[in-house]
Amino acid sequence: MIESFQFEEPLVDKVADALGQQGFIQLQQFLPDKLAQQLQIEAKDLAAIEFTAAGIGRNENLQLNTQIRSDTSLWLNGESTPQQAYLEWMEKLRVGLNRRLFMGLSEFECHYSHYAKGDFYKRHLDAFKGSPHKNRSNRAVSTVFYLNSDWQQDDGGELLLYADNHLSPLLIVPPLFNSCMIFLSDTFPHEVLASNCDRYSIAGWYRVNG
Ligand code: OGA
Ligand code: MN
Repeated sequence: MIESFQFEEPLVDKVADALGQQGFIQLQQFLPDKLAQQLQIEAKDLAAIEFTAAGIGRNENLQLNTQIRSDTSLWLNGESTPQQAYLEWMEKLRVGLNRRLFMGLSEFECHYSHYAKGDFYKRHLDAFKGSPHKNRSNRAVSTVFYLNSDWQQDDGGELLLYADNHLSPLLIVPPLFNSCMIFLSDTFPHEVLASNCDRYSIAGWYRVNG
């Protein structure tokens, strides 16, 4: 029997309002604490054995480029109960956002990420504005859920979110346990500063049909 976690509809309102107005939101206490803890344990366990070098793009577009990013990752496929619970949670959010924003989000995909000491991800966009063929991944909304307890100021690994081509960041996001950053994929360039210690997260994307 899979434990069912109580999804709160006000969460949808909060995220929908923020995406509609400013295009991003930083949430604390995103999941029930117990689920966040289970995901943290699993991320650490699996990172030790199964994570592989992260690519830029997926499948046929997979292009390893350690100049751009140096983390390792593992796609969630729902093979464990915490993964199922996380995917269910994000599915409820997808349905809720579609009801509120008419974005036509069609699916969600996500992977665990592990940044070891020194790992980074240079400034990039998760999707490109414009015609669908330019936006090969059809990513519409990006989510990054963080799994780091006791994160300290000098641990590095902050996510910097930018407005357009601005040089100074709009937002500096420490990867704090059970917090989640959600933003429009084609609107905000972002980067991950070099981490000074192990950094775990789940990066995910809601896609639209092309
Ligand atoms: C990504 C990404 C940000 C983060 O995986 O595309 O931008 O804070 N991750 O881990
Ligand atoms: Mn990104």
